[in-house]
Amino acid sequence: MKSIAVVTSGGDAPGMNAAIRAVVRIAYSKNFQVLGFRRGWEGLITNAFSPLTPRSVGGIIQLGGTILHTSRCPQVRKREGIKKAAENLALNDVDGLIVIGGNGSFKGALDLSKETGTLIVGVPATIDNDVFGTEETIGFDTAVNTAVTEIDKIRDTAISHERIFIVEVMGRTRGFLASTVGLTVGAETILVPEVKYVKEGIFETIKKSSAKGKKSGIVVAAEGIGDTRKLAREIEENTGAEVRLTILGYAQRGGNPTARSRLLANLFANKAVELLSKEQGNRIVGLQKGRITSIELEKSCKTEKPLDLNLLKLANVLAT
Ligand code: F6P
Repeated sequence: MKSIAVVTSGGDAPGMNAAIRAVVRIAYSKNFQVLGFRRGWEGLITNAFSPLTPRSVGGIIQLGGTILHTSRCPQVRKREGIKKAAENLALNDVDGLIVIGGNGSFKGALDLSKETGTLIVGVPATIDNDVFGTEETIGFDTAVNTAVTEIDKIRDTAISHERIFIVEVMGRTRGFLASTVGLTVGAETILVPEVKYVKEGIFETIKKSSAKGKKSGIVVAAEGIGDTRKLAREIEENTGAEVRLTILGYAQRGGNPTARSRLLANLFANKAVELLSKEQGNRIVGLQKGRITSIELEKSCKTEKPLDLNLLKLANVLAT
């Protein structure tokens, strides 16, 4: 193993820079060269990269975003894109590739692994926390804390005006962010894409809360549950409560990574470089039962990570 390439791909996540920094410095400690490919899979396809040294990654551990930039690259879903990326890895004598990203990026890595002799290791970094093989992804803790801080502020005005607030958080297809945020802000209702909700049930919950004297409330909804503007109107029409909507949006994707996100970045990067140094590839590193481990790339890509619905049940009890 002489040279390692690193790329950040898909939606950015706070802690990606900490992971890049750790990959570069740990790789250097093992006498590997490091090439940083730019803008995710696009850089691998267009051969856009720059050498990274321990000095290149100084002063970034605390920064959100990614110094390599990222992208969502449709070409990686086509055979010619994968072949081009494989050619560029060979052209630059890359022995190992570390992909820092989420599920979409790892699916590209799986296709690439079939076209190249370069060993590939995935480092899970996405605010969605929806990667099978790890209990937590880099960036998830930061996004949770960003949302909790903002919703605590919203609760102040909800209480003052005795209003119901729907707060939409990220999570186009999965409810990991919504369920953890909902539980930790004391939301009265949590809506996730995995559980089909019944509007009448929401109206009932709000009316019962009001009858018990709870005149304000927070509904945390993952963006993937549907039209939250329409839901806000329907709650108002069916409960008589004043309802407002806040969409937290892309603030959840940025900000200084928390210590937790930085810790995962360092530990995942260390495991990834260790696997490559042992000529082990086509794996995803992850946190399981408190230990840093790895599983097969294919297994991670082909297995949906289950959402713990007990979190929703617990939130229900706690919101009484
Ligand atoms: O994958 C992370 C994520 O933030 C999702 O929660 C969100 O639905 C999506 O990315 C937004 O994608 P984009 O950044 O391409 O608009």
